[in-house]
Parts: sequence; structure tokens; C-alpha cells
Amino acid sequence: MSAPAAQPAPGAPVPADSTVRTPLLPIWLVVLMFLILYWGGIYFDENSGWFDSKIYGPYRSTEDLALYQPRHEGPDLGRGQVVFGQICALCHNPDGTGKPGQGPPFVGSEYVLGDPKRLIRIPLYGLNGTVQVAGKPYAGLSMGAMGATLSSEDLAAVLSYMRQSWGNKAEPVTAAQVDAIRKEVGTRGAFTPDELNAIK
Ligand code: HEC
Repeated sequence: MSAPAAQPAPGAPVPADSTVRTPLLPIWLVVLMFLILYWGGIYFDENSGWFDSKIYGPYRSTEDLALYQPRHEGPDLGRGQVVFGQICALCHNPDGTGKPGQGPPFVGSEYVLGDPKRLIRIPLYGLNGTVQVAGKPYAGLSMGAMGATLSSEDLAAVLSYMRQSWGNKAEPVTAAQVDAIRKEVGTRGAFTPDELNAIK
């Protein structure tokens, strides 16, 4: 018969301190927790979209989402319509037919449909003098630089919208064309119809 294994053999030296002392939290566990937290932070930053409600799987961030948006080719006519409604429609009417005593029409206007170099100058600098639009004179009116504070993109969008609405059909205006006029003309007051008509 053999003795139970747990029993120390009689006469064997007893360890001086037989209780096992481990620290409450091993240091490697603390380090591991920090590493996991750190990785979690990075993972959250890259994948969460920061709680934006527009971002959900499989998309991970706004940049990710932008890759899949339909590309805008050409002018932003929707934006143009909004800005038109906010500013130009006050005097030129939302349907571009003009308002008596306030603003001449855009439908069939040779300024709207004609050379962009002429058209861009009007909202950037204003117009002063009897203007002839679609065969009718509009005397005693003047327009300030109603589009001067718009960004070139927004102004290009408005003018493109005007050139392609209410039956008007003309090439869109680009922000680069607006920039070029700003650079070429610099600062000055309103143009007269004669000055505009002399532009080649
Ligand atoms: C406060 C009223 C007012 C606002 C707002 C206004 N206009 Fe005018 N606009 C006029 C008047 C008045 C004339 C005619 C000026 C003249 O006879 O000298 C005119 C003339 C024009 C013309 C040339 C004539 C024509 O009918 O084609 C264009 C182009 C034009 N405006 C564009 C714009 C654009 C673009 C905006 C918005 C960014 C705008 N206007 C906002 C009053 C306004």
C-alpha cells in the first residue's frame, strides 16, 4: 500500500513560506489590457464613422461613402436653382419672366444666352443703363453686384441653371470662367449695356 501523494514524506524539509504569493493583477495582464484598449480606439476611429447616422456597414467612414456617390459631371443645376431662388428670383421672378419695374426677363434674354464673358460680368459687377432684352427696352432700372459675394462655383451654377431653364438652351458656365472674369476685371462699378455689348 502506498502513502497518499499529498503527504510530504516524513522528514522532508518544509518550505519556509509555503503560501504562494501572486500579485493581485499580473503586470502582463495590465499591459495587455492597455494594448487592447489602444487597438480598440484605433479600430473605432477607423471603422465607426463617429456615430454618423449616414454611415453603416459595409461603409466605415465618410471617405468610404464618398467613393460610392454618383459623380457630378458638369454644372450643379440643383444648387443653381437654390441660389437663384434665394437671390435672383426676387427681382427676376422664379420662372425667369422678370418683374415689371424690378428686373427684366431671362427667358430668351440675349444676355443670359449670349457670351458667358458678358453674362458673368452682370451679377459680379452690376448693370446700369437702359438694357434691351428680347426686343424690349428696360429704362430707369439698375442692378447692383448681386452675385459678387457668391463663390465662383455657386455663381457658375446659377448662371448655368438660367441658361438651361424655362426653355433656354445654352452651354453651361464653369467656375473657371467666373474666376477668369474676376481676375481680368478686378474691382470696379457697374457695367453699362453699351460696355457689355462692346465685349468681344
Ligand atoms: C434687386 C433686384 C435684382 C436682383 C436681386 C437681381 N437682379 Fe439682375 N437685374 C435687375 C435689374 C433692375 C436689371 C436691369 C438693369 C438695367 O436695366 O440696367 C437686371 C438685369 C440683369 C441681367 C441682364 C438683363 C436680362 O434680363 O438678361 C442679368 C443677366 C441679370 N440681371 C442677372 C442676375 C442674376 C444672376 C441675379 C442673381 C445672382 C440677379 N440678376 C439678381 C435687378 C436684380
